[in-house]
Amino acid sequence: MADLATLLGELERLVQECATQLGQASSSEELEAVRVEHLGRKGRMAGAMSALPSLGPEDKPVAGRKANEVKARLTAMLEARQTELDRAAEAEKLASFDPTLPGRTPPVGSLHPVTLVTREICDVFAGLGFDVVDGPEVENDWYNFEALNMPPDHPARDMQDTLYVTDSIVLRTHTSPLQVRSMLAQKPPVAVVAPGKVYRRDSDLTHTPMFHQIEGLLVDRKVSMADLRGTLTAFVRRIFGPETNVRFRPSFFPFTEPSAEVDISCVMCGGTGHIHGETCRVCKQTGWVEILGCGMVDPNVYGFVDYDPELYTGFAFGLGVERVAMLKYGIGDLRMFFENDVRFLSQFS
Ligand code: DAH
Repeated sequence: MADLATLLGELERLVQECATQLGQASSSEELEAVRVEHLGRKGRMAGAMSALPSLGPEDKPVAGRKANEVKARLTAMLEARQTELDRAAEAEKLASFDPTLPGRTPPVGSLHPVTLVTREICDVFAGLGFDVVDGPEVENDWYNFEALNMPPDHPARDMQDTLYVTDSIVLRTHTSPLQVRSMLAQKPPVAVVAPGKVYRRDSDLTHTPMFHQIEGLLVDRKVSMADLRGTLTAFVRRIFGPETNVRFRPSFFPFTEPSAEVDISCVMCGGTGHIHGETCRVCKQTGWVEILGCGMVDPNVYGFVDYDPELYTGFAFGLGVERVAMLKYGIGDLRMFFENDVRFLSQFS
């Protein structure tokens, strides 16, 4: 017959030993091993209880109560240790994480300098009462050339290396067809600027097959060359600063008469031709840089859009956006605009 005192002693020892082992267990796996060893189906608890059937009848309930109590204590101890381990793991995670670190900001893009300058120029003219319009890049010969006073065999067509789609359809070589489209779309007064891409069969250090222009047109009664001068001077000073000087040089365009090219005092050297005693490379020592072409709309053009040249006069101008951007930002190489190197572009954010 088994001895009650021995069984009770063994159960108590089991609790002690479980406590010691739990203190050393440092992971959920180790904890599970301790549980199996003590409370498992073939564990020490079960082993000790195998003596139960051979206890005397009055000892059995005593041993049974003790067994239940020990089982509850073991379970509670295991749970407590698991909680302790969970807390430690959580604390460790927090210790290796600095919640005060700044978050990671995703890189934000910026507008292309051509877009920036286009918007800036259009804003200036919008402030002067001009509408901003656009039109097709694939254009009829008639709008691109003929209605601009360049009949099919006109030598001025050679000024622009045209990319032909068909015999009568071209990639527009300038934004000037928007003059024609605008005049056909409305009666005077007309005041528009038309930004957009233009295409030419031309590619070298200072020319790209595609670039951007902005066309301007103002037609009304009694518009004079003085209005042209005043408007362009105001525009240039808004873009390049109030100190900028302007000069008009006689020139030729088939759709304007008279025509002029406009120079501004060099933005690099302030018109002196020198920087710190060295020759200014931007204006090649002249103190002036060319910025746009312009003129009074040729009366022949009015014939194509059914405007009365006795009643209306107007001026037009066209400028290259990349050129303005190069002068404004001091960019020396036209190719920068098209390479889309992020190191270049991010400087305009
Ligand atoms: N269309 C001309 C070009 O691409 C630029 C130009 C010159 C436009 C004089 C005009 C103008 O409106 O009046 O070279």
